[in-house]
Amino acid sequence: MAEPKTADLMDKIVSLCKRRGFIFQSSEIYGGINGFWDYGPLGVELRKNIRDCWWNDMVRRRDDVVGLESSIIMHPKVWEASGHVGGFTDPMVDCKVSKQRFRADQIFFSAVVVDGKTVGYVTVLESERIAEELQEKAETFKRKKAIQGKLEPVQPRDFTEAKSEEIPLIPSPATGEPGSLTPPRAFNMMFETYVGALRDESAVAYLRPETAQGMFVDFKAILDTGRVKVPFGIAQVGKSFRNEITPRNFIFRSREFEQMEMEYFIADDDDWAKWHRYWIDWCREWLVSVGIPASSLSEYNHPKEKLAFYSKGTTDLMFKYPFGVQELWGIAARGDYDLTQHSKASGQPMEYFDDVKKKRYVPHVIEPAVGVDSILLAILCSAYCEDQAPDEKGKMETRTVLKLHPRIAPIKVAVFPLLKNKPELVKKALEVRDLLRPYMTVFYDEAGAIGRRYRRQDEAGTPFGVTIDFDTLGEKGPELADTVTLRERDTMKQERIKISELVPKLIEKVR
Ligand code: GAP
Repeated sequence: MAEPKTADLMDKIVSLCKRRGFIFQSSEIYGGINGFWDYGPLGVELRKNIRDCWWNDMVRRRDDVVGLESSIIMHPKVWEASGHVGGFTDPMVDCKVSKQRFRADQIFFSAVVVDGKTVGYVTVLESERIAEELQEKAETFKRKKAIQGKLEPVQPRDFTEAKSEEIPLIPSPATGEPGSLTPPRAFNMMFETYVGALRDESAVAYLRPETAQGMFVDFKAILDTGRVKVPFGIAQVGKSFRNEITPRNFIFRSREFEQMEMEYFIADDDDWAKWHRYWIDWCREWLVSVGIPASSLSEYNHPKEKLAFYSKGTTDLMFKYPFGVQELWGIAARGDYDLTQHSKASGQPMEYFDDVKKKRYVPHVIEPAVGVDSILLAILCSAYCEDQAPDEKGKMETRTVLKLHPRIAPIKVAVFPLLKNKPELVKKALEVRDLLRPYMTVFYDEAGAIGRRYRRQDEAGTPFGVTIDFDTLGEKGPELADTVTLRERDTMKQERIKISELVPKLIEKVR
């Protein structure tokens, strides 16, 4: 969809997000806080549109999915039963010299082997070019130490695979010197807090690390409303919190983020693989419907040996971010694990009674889980584009444009009077703004040359611009009176249309 994809694309996107008011670093005036982000005026609209599109398609337009909004802080036993208290950990490594902290599975190392003998170790952090970077470092290592002989190809491993006798020999990614990395240890990513006035063990609670558990815990309550029959889903959108060891890649891995998850409950003897496939395809089509090109999506099936014991299969929809191909949406077949765990821990039955088969069972679940922020970033990366356009004097210049799908663009249409010092133009433009406002988000802008106003909206991703000029006032004859120019962002083509035709024409394009 959008070109070009340069190596510094991420820097350009981060800079545009700040400049145009999509995303700011949280608490920036105090130096910022790592892993937290604020969404500015355009960012909140974009986020809301993503959420609304998902909610409409996932819940409102279906008969078999209902919504839920559970609390962020739940009974601590929820997280014991789900396995998060015991096992929601990442392997953490400290560098004792630099005091930096790393995730062990993001540090990659290799022995430097010359003529069959290990002469040292090299380290890199996770990237798209792990093997190449390690090989380059190994060559530099051999050259600097003036070691003679044949260098063998590197064998990358991550730090969780390091043997205890190797750990003191592996250089720290921070200092480049060996001897300062600690062995990996499990770090629980849940944020703890206290509920009530006491600050002791009995008052400990957690900010939820995922929205999913709300759906399992409220499964029975929703079943008892009598509104649902298996197969059915419960969907939720809301904030989740993870104390990530290394928040990274802008909003891709943060400590506070928003998830959109749906638990789809199926019969215990149903064909889980068929439903799994159904939801993978649904998620992929949905991403395309909000402007993510199918060509930048791929599927990754988790290998059987890496799956949790209860999982039947997990497929991730991967997106080609500028920093590499990464997970965007995970679709997991989780069996009856979660409901069974909560049933055991709470003592409450989590069974469904099938009144046709006259059978009672614990349903199995397919879970499509995605982050709003991951989608938002994928959308921005897909939409960012630079092309050539004439400036005020007809000279070609580089134009930055966000080719956002009209369905999710923060502002659908911008309205401009050609000149701000002509009261008749301003009056008419405000009338057009008020005409459109009940139907879509409208931005009125009278400041600066018209070309510059177009450029600002191109950067904001506004798909349409309406300009009120002297023809609109009928100065060139009655046939053009009450017509405006409608400019299309991507092609920059302008057409003359009647004001009375604007609402139906634009509604058709933005919904
Ligand atoms: N209930 C399953 C679950 O939470 P997950 O793969 O850990 O699965 C689902 O998370 C999605 O949530 C991810 O695919 C990603 O889009 C988003 N996500 C997870 N951790 C995140 C983080 N630290 N920052 C931003 N988004 C995150």
